[in-house]
Amino acid sequence: MADQRAVNPITSGRLPRLTHEELQQAQTEALATPRRRYGIAARALFAALDRVYGKPRTLSKFKVLELVARVPYQAWEQVAFVAITHVHTRTGFARRIHDRLARSRAQQDNEMFHLLIIEELLATSGTPQPSIKFFWLPQAIAFVYYQLSWLLFVLHPAWSYRLNADFEDHAVHEYMALVAEHPEWENTPFESEFASDFGHFTSLADAFRQIGHDELIHKIESEDLMKEGRFR
Ligand SMILES: [Fe+2]
Ligand SMILES: [Fe+2]
Repeated sequence: MADQRAVNPITSGRLPRLTHEELQQAQTEALATPRRRYGIAARALFAALDRVYGKPRTLSKFKVLELVARVPYQAWEQVAFVAITHVHTRTGFARRIHDRLARSRAQQDNEMFHLLIIEELLATSGTPQPSIKFFWLPQAIAFVYYQLSWLLFVLHPAWSYRLNADFEDHAVHEYMALVAEHPEWENTPFESEFASDFGHFTSLADAFRQIGHDELIHKIESEDLMKEGRFR
């Protein structure tokens, strides 16, 4: 496993941290794995993001993806807290709902550090971030995506989990392709204010491979939850 020096297990989302060799292997496997058959909502979202932010893989576009990626977990967490309010007298049931809630929280934390690491890189590089396109519009997309994730979850949880599995699958492929497009990142040190939260890596390439691997775990968790469905 990778150097675990002082990595906060809660803020890192309690996800495994891989060595350089494991991360390279994960990238190779991800790029060789076909994408999921995305549903209509996911395809519409990816097409809209390509249209507004362009097809090229830029850090600015990944920032928008990460801002949006957090909100299904927030929607699920909110539904779970409300459910506990209603079923607290059935303590075993409430406890199981809380277990799922804790997983949503951990994933949201992990996504937040993806977002902050990218934001930090953009700030360091001085990439212009016009506020309408890179602040207000992403807020609006995240708002709509939150409502959609919440509604799908209330109607039929597997639909919401499926949308997220599609989103995470897209993220895995996009991150691993992004690393392949930046060979210079292999020799760029990963220096971040958030390393103790997210993980310590010798290169920026490995840090981004680790983000891609986190997305893979998120995808697998959502695919598992699609089978579990409603709180039980
Ligand atoms: Fe992410
Ligand atoms: Fe993710």
